[in-house]
Amino acid sequence: MCGIVGAVSERDVPAILLEGLRRLEYRGYDSAGMAVLNPSGTLVREREVGKVAALADVLDNTHYRGAVGIAHTRWATHGEPAQHNAHPHMSGERLAIVHNGIIENYQPLRDRLKEEGFNFTSQTDTEVVAHLIESHFRQNGDLLHAVKAAIAELRGAFALAVLHADDPERIIVSREGSPLVVGVGIGENFAASDPLALLPVTDRFIYLEEGDVAEIRKDTVRVWDRDGQSIERPTQRYEHGHDAADKGEYRHFMLKEIYEQPKVIQATMEGRLTDSKVLEQALGTEAEKLLGDIRHVQIVACGTSYHAGMVARYWIEELAGVPCSVEVASEYRYRSHVIQPDTLFLTISQSGETADSLAALRQAKKAGFRAALAVCNVPGSSLVRESDLVVMTQAGPEIGVASTKAFTTQLTALLIFTLALARHNGMDASKEAEIVQALRQLPRQVEQVLALDGKIADLSRAFMDKNHSLFLGRGAMFPVALEGALKLKEISYIHAEAYPAGELKHGPLALVDSEMPVVTVAPNNMLMEKLKSNLEEVRARGGELFVFADGEAGLTEEDGVHVMSIPEVHPITAPVVYTVPLQLLSYHVAVLKGTDVDQPRNLAKSVTVE
Ligand code: G6P
Repeated sequence: MCGIVGAVSERDVPAILLEGLRRLEYRGYDSAGMAVLNPSGTLVREREVGKVAALADVLDNTHYRGAVGIAHTRWATHGEPAQHNAHPHMSGERLAIVHNGIIENYQPLRDRLKEEGFNFTSQTDTEVVAHLIESHFRQNGDLLHAVKAAIAELRGAFALAVLHADDPERIIVSREGSPLVVGVGIGENFAASDPLALLPVTDRFIYLEEGDVAEIRKDTVRVWDRDGQSIERPTQRYEHGHDAADKGEYRHFMLKEIYEQPKVIQATMEGRLTDSKVLEQALGTEAEKLLGDIRHVQIVACGTSYHAGMVARYWIEELAGVPCSVEVASEYRYRSHVIQPDTLFLTISQSGETADSLAALRQAKKAGFRAALAVCNVPGSSLVRESDLVVMTQAGPEIGVASTKAFTTQLTALLIFTLALARHNGMDASKEAEIVQALRQLPRQVEQVLALDGKIADLSRAFMDKNHSLFLGRGAMFPVALEGALKLKEISYIHAEAYPAGELKHGPLALVDSEMPVVTVAPNNMLMEKLKSNLEEVRARGGELFVFADGEAGLTEEDGVHVMSIPEVHPITAPVVYTVPLQLLSYHVAVLKGTDVDQPRNLAKSVTVE
């Protein structure tokens, strides 16, 4: 969960690298650095603790120049965030490397390299790779061969970019378990962890496969596969819009992304629905054949994507009548399973690069699932490439670390998938038409909720000086409560827990008092009466209630009960609509508290390590 960028050009590259880092900052932001070969042939390096802006300040003062360079933004795994641990790491004065991932066997390699006489100046696993490559380079004087020889000795996950002052026309990059793309320009070529980093300079990309090594020169890019065979990988045009890394009129990316939801939910439905049904072909040519065979669905995901999976389980079981299990990927991958025949393995991921989700998918492919379906937001990501069927969300790049529009577009895509599956399992056409109509209303309903922004900002004041909070929901609104609690803790650092409302009396009620705001998501569904009793239980203990409910729910504002009226929505699509006010609530609490909304402490957007 670091970001890498590299460039080989005829022009000076520091400004390109710096902009690339700024765009990759969502991947890590505890320190940043850059190394370039300057015109006199020496390797110069700058590293700073803190954000990319801190690095930019020092570079301004040093008049950095050079046409070949690599840069890095870090999220610490080995060694605290400190200048000596920041990348690029060097071996001697001539070799520099940037790395994303974890080298598992770094300790024995470090011991061996120390014996060879290499000096270590950091606690990182990356510095081991720098010396290992230099050790091979000394034997053969060729950077490409040195990198190939070194990675053959590495165990773990990595994406890396290396440059050497004694082999100055090229950088060598490689990936194994961490993302890396090559950006193809005219008279210049690049590499980065995410195409987003390079959109100001190119929209053509080569997506490297696992085990690939590539040589990047200004006029050529050559790729070798895991077996060392020279291979042509296709160059693809980038699909997303170019404005993604720009906040526009918004104060934070998170707010911009919350407001983009009507548009991206609409985009996720486009081409997949008629007025009355789901177009199954839009889920892939194999979809029709496959969906008829599916008897069970296993969903695996992490973080916010896991919450989307939890909502989908309610839909899949209710509408399709197909049994569905959901599990976080980090748990799933480390236990034994009973796999029912004809089970579909469904991974959900914004980035398509989350290490645990990918590992679970790879395991599943060996374990005999009927097929693997991915719901993902990043075209060309590992998860997309390794799945049999893909339903892309159309959220566009999400920069804010706390996921918002990715979640609501995942829900949209998952409901479309559920309808297709349900049709194969006896759902009648009128029910399908009813839910398709409900889906089509979503962009407008989300707009209506966004119009409540000012009122939600007022409510948020009540949370500002609180240390704990409780979120309640029933049925498919329970995962929405979980997602609301996750948002609040991620960006405001207020402890937030979510409970199925019926569990309140089995423990959390003991915590309720006037210092514990209780947030409830309560569309007027068949569980409303039960939920009302849960709310009474909270009121009786002096708890302050914040209820998001529709007008029909019959809840009234009174002392200690704040009711935010949400437009009336279909119970099936309610999870999408009710997520939005909770996003806004967290956002405003975080702004009031003055935390770093887009890059909360200790977190990273894309977790490509275990
Ligand atoms: C990180 C992010 C979360 C995200 C999770 C899963 O923890 O901060 O926002 O939900 O990873 O990421 P994925 O890309 O697989 O959805």
